[in-house]
Amino acid sequence: EVVDARGKYILPGAIDAHVHFRDPGYTHKETWETGTASAAMGGVTTVFEMPNTNPPTGTVEALNLKLKSAEQAYVDFGIYGLLGEDNLTELEALIEGGVAGFKCFMGNTFGNLPSPPTGAILEGFEIVAKHGYRIALHAENASIMARRSKKLREAGRCDPLAHLDARPPVVATEAVSRAAILAEWTGARIHILHVSSGDELRPLREAKARGVDITAETCPHYLLLDERAYTEKKSLIRVNPPVREKTHQDQLWRAVQDGTIDMIATDHAPHSHEEKHRDDIWTTDCGFTGVQTQMPLMLTQVGAGRLSLTDYVRMTSLAPAKAFGLYPRKGALLPGSDADLVIIDMERETQVDSSKLKSKGSSTPFHGHAAKGAPVHTLVRGRFVMRDGALVTEAKGHGCNVRRIQQMPTPKPRNVETTTAAIVRKNRK
Ligand code: DOR
Ligand code: ZN
Ligand code: ZN
Repeated sequence: EVVDARGKYILPGAIDAHVHFRDPGYTHKETWETGTASAAMGGVTTVFEMPNTNPPTGTVEALNLKLKSAEQAYVDFGIYGLLGEDNLTELEALIEGGVAGFKCFMGNTFGNLPSPPTGAILEGFEIVAKHGYRIALHAENASIMARRSKKLREAGRCDPLAHLDARPPVVATEAVSRAAILAEWTGARIHILHVSSGDELRPLREAKARGVDITAETCPHYLLLDERAYTEKKSLIRVNPPVREKTHQDQLWRAVQDGTIDMIATDHAPHSHEEKHRDDIWTTDCGFTGVQTQMPLMLTQVGAGRLSLTDYVRMTSLAPAKAFGLYPRKGALLPGSDADLVIIDMERETQVDSSKLKSKGSSTPFHGHAAKGAPVHTLVRGRFVMRDGALVTEAKGHGCNVRRIQQMPTPKPRNVETTTAAIVRKNRK
């Protein structure tokens, strides 16, 4: 099959380490078919999907249900297993069953999965560390948030900014610091999801300097929207963690440029139109669609000179491939070739339009945003899943579980250099 790529760039397909496809359980928001169609249209060739579905992906039975739904996938995928207080005894079975990593919700989230107490997180880290799989963290402190939200509600605040006020940066910073300490202690590999504030960068940089195997992502909404957008976007902008003040955004851009933040992922979290447009901020569902809009939005930044195309590819493809054991190639175990590619046209001008997204819950605060630079063809293992800007519907079901070819480096031992316990142990000898 031949396409004319003159004047265009051929890039490795994007790997989105953070999507919620809602299936099974909340299929009015998204399904594997609609979510991965949206990915294909967005130049994304592999996604890693989150466990806050119904049932949550905390048992092998639930994992198998999800793998069944994922048979509809257009693009390749990895599945995160849940790391929760109640399923610590299931973690090894989930690895055996085919998860590509784990997700731990330190803050409460959609799907009512309670945050495990720190003791349970530590145990979970110890178990997973033995196998080398990465643990992604929604790093927000549930207790701080609950107390602040209660006060704000009692004071009658239900405007969009109340959401931001309930989650000052300490909410995330405390959790990032704690996760880094637990990872250092256990040798677990971790990934900090959706870094939203400048304050989180310090514990992140310090942990990296100490040799903790920690990666981090931010998302387009934290780089492109700021506090001022709440007036216009209202409840539509509600997302956890919240979009913050410009000063945080500036620090995030610097962290993107200096490599403190490794990846750009989307936190694709679709909800229905009705669920995103409520007057009361507290009852509006958090998050929005994103897997299809990331590339045009971020390529616009590339065109504007805020990020080089090489850095963009590093953050959307190379870094996630390395962090999740897909580097340097998918290899011969899956059908087709290694060609996960996206062909982009940097001159193509578009406007984000909710009604044109393949995602079911297509409400987005980026609706109406202008973009320059767009994916035009997407190939997964050598097969077109989007061609000339159109979804290749016959490619439904082409997506494979990348766990079959995932190669995580051998497990890291506990950080014997720096933990006090290790130093004491050494001195005792
Ligand atoms: O805004 C969010 N939406 N943050 C989360 O942590 C969960 C996500 C969702 O699943 O809706
Ligand atoms: Zn999250
Ligand atoms: Zn998420």
